[in-house]
Amino acid sequence: MKLNIYCLIMKIIIFNCIVYVDASEYKIWGPGLKPEIVMPARYFFIESIPNCDTNLLELIDLDIKIEGSKIDSNKPCRIWTNILNRNDGSYIVRYKLYEPCINVKIDIKVRGENIKGFPLTFKYIMFSEDCNCNIHNVSSFINNWECGETQTQIKEDLHLFKGIDFGKIRKRIVSTYDNPGAVSLCNYVIKNNLIYRKCYGQHVGFKMFMDNILLSLTRKVLLPDFEMFVNLGDWPLVKDTNEIFPIFSWCGSKDSFDIVMPTYDITESTLESMGRVMLDMLSVQGNVRDKWENRHPKIFWRGRDSSRERLKLIEISRQYPDLFNVSLTNFFFFRNEMEKYGPTSKHVSFYDFFDAI
Ligand SMILES: *[C@@H]1O[C@H](CO)[C@@H](O)[C@H](O)[C@H]1NC(C)=O
Ligand SMILES: *[C@@H]1O[C@H](CO)[C@@H](O)[C@H](O)[C@H]1NC(C)=O
Repeated sequence: MKLNIYCLIMKIIIFNCIVYVDASEYKIWGPGLKPEIVMPARYFFIESIPNCDTNLLELIDLDIKIEGSKIDSNKPCRIWTNILNRNDGSYIVRYKLYEPCINVKIDIKVRGENIKGFPLTFKYIMFSEDCNCNIHNVSSFINNWECGETQTQIKEDLHLFKGIDFGKIRKRIVSTYDNPGAVSLCNYVIKNNLIYRKCYGQHVGFKMFMDNILLSLTRKVLLPDFEMFVNLGDWPLVKDTNEIFPIFSWCGSKDSFDIVMPTYDITESTLESMGRVMLDMLSVQGNVRDKWENRHPKIFWRGRDSSRERLKLIEISRQYPDLFNVSLTNFFFFRNEMEKYGPTSKHVSFYDFFDAI
């Protein structure tokens, strides 16, 4: 039998049209639709579902209003709303509360018509990020935020450490990594939802990132009492030695035992969202100019020469120039190898990065 591929495809297309014609045209979801989820900037997504009249949702089609009242008067409370156009018919709506609000109303109209299910009104208090509102216990927090299953990686990293007694190992951790010029290590204790810390090393400025995420958590949730060590460096610490210690890090590798957690630029991106943030993971999505289809299927990378692996990447890219567009932006550690791994190319800003090739 000759398989008529055109028929098959037409059927799929027609079937899809029939399925979608009567269905709701827009999908709206995200944590910003749940008032109990307190974030520095709340956000949700609007996506137009492909339809037979494939009019992409344009920014001018959207009319979004988010308003609420102060809790002690009927006056409007301060909310700042910001819409990010991802240039593919989908949008990210962000809004920031500068004070607690009640009767927050989220109204979304598309081409002048109310979207099904909107306006949404929340009659209870919506808290702002700076509120000390640790009304949740851990399980209700994880439940409300729909955190889902614990990631396999963190389970595996923690699996190595059972029944940790910091009373016994704390001193040994501090002495094992006593190398003030090279190692920056902080010991945190959370007790009665208060944060205590002691840092070791000459360069411990990055403790502010860990402090900030812990402070943000303790404002939202009653944390159980616990203790941890955090490596502030950008290289894993716990190498295969006689004894491995539980240390949280922003980086890991196959030959180290650090417990890897989200990096400081990711946590900062969330905490400073709609504020003074350098690497904003959401707003960068609203800066994309080129369509996905127009991109080149290549790996794009820029960075300085901070490790030998990066030089290796340059070598690999020279073997496969059609797959890689990578280059160093600066020489500092391997200046004597500039001939081989240069020339350098210009720094590419984070906001241009995803349009670079
Ligand atoms: C946590 O809070 C929820 C909701 O307030 C409550 O139902 C639950 O019993 C609490 N759990 C614990 C362990 O306190
Ligand atoms: C690599 O990317 C840069 C920055 O977009 C571009 O100027 C350059 O032409 C690209 N190089 C190649 C070989 O495609």
